[in-house]
Amino acid sequence: MVTTMPTKQFNDTLHAMVLSEDGTYTAYSKEYGEHYHSTKDGALHESLSKHVIPVLERKKEQEEAVLLDICFGLGFNTLTTLWYHRRYNLKTKLRIYAPELDSALIDALPSFVYPKEFEPLLEVICALSTEGMYSKGLWHVELFRGDAREYVRKFAPQTFDGVYQDAFSPKTNPVLWTREYFGDLARIMKNDAILTTYSTALATRLALHENGFKLYLCEKEGVRSFTLASKGSVAEAQEIDMAHKIKTNPHAKALSDADLAEGVEHL
Ligand SMILES: C[S@@+](CC[C@H](N)C(=O)[O-])C[C@H]1O[C@@H](n2cnc3c(N)ncnc32)[C@H](O)[C@@H]1O
Repeated sequence: MVTTMPTKQFNDTLHAMVLSEDGTYTAYSKEYGEHYHSTKDGALHESLSKHVIPVLERKKEQEEAVLLDICFGLGFNTLTTLWYHRRYNLKTKLRIYAPELDSALIDALPSFVYPKEFEPLLEVICALSTEGMYSKGLWHVELFRGDAREYVRKFAPQTFDGVYQDAFSPKTNPVLWTREYFGDLARIMKNDAILTTYSTALATRLALHENGFKLYLCEKEGVRSFTLASKGSVAEAQEIDMAHKIKTNPHAKALSDADLAEGVEHL
């Protein structure tokens, strides 16, 4: 069961705290009309299962892992990454880069009710909210206030080992799901980098496929199925037969910047 809890500190005209089914709070965006996480999967559980474990478990033997957290929002994907890293005593050096457009949300983060797992990370949350950066020991995190598309274009080619693609849905925030956007991401991801997304929409998979990504279906107990994408092969993941998908859905199309500019809807 999901309930909203109006707290004076966090809730404002645009954001409301909502209890999700794993007992952790997420938020509801009144601007986008969507929750920040699946309330059914649970905020912490979703972040851990769909983003953090699929990437960290495959990158944990590397000396360094460079991750892109799109979009930071309440910061669950970054914070869960740090929590998991500490919990399992990983030795990989972490560099995490996270763009987030909503400056008022970033300012309000210290008053959000985070899961108890994040209690030791309070100094990270406060530093990111006020200074946009946290750097200590094996961790370096940068939070950029601004547009993710602009941010992605700034990086040199072949930089990232993992991308958490966690924008609002293609229907409500289509600019972060077009073939051109995934093309920009492809240019900054290493060949064996992994992109994680909760989206299982064919339009999303086509946009990735058209940029040379292989697509993988992930099914885990306790969360809805999700997608991994990589230019390389992903161990222990079930590759999706995109040729077959395209043949059986001949009218399906990736979102494109041009169509969005013209107001053409595909979803
Ligand atoms: C689904 S929420 C992200 C959830 C987040 N990963 C978390 O753990 O809380 C989507 C976020 O995208 C942000 N956003 C929307 N458009 C954006 C853009 N063009 N660039 C950067 N952030 C954007 C919204 O402000 C919102 O915080």
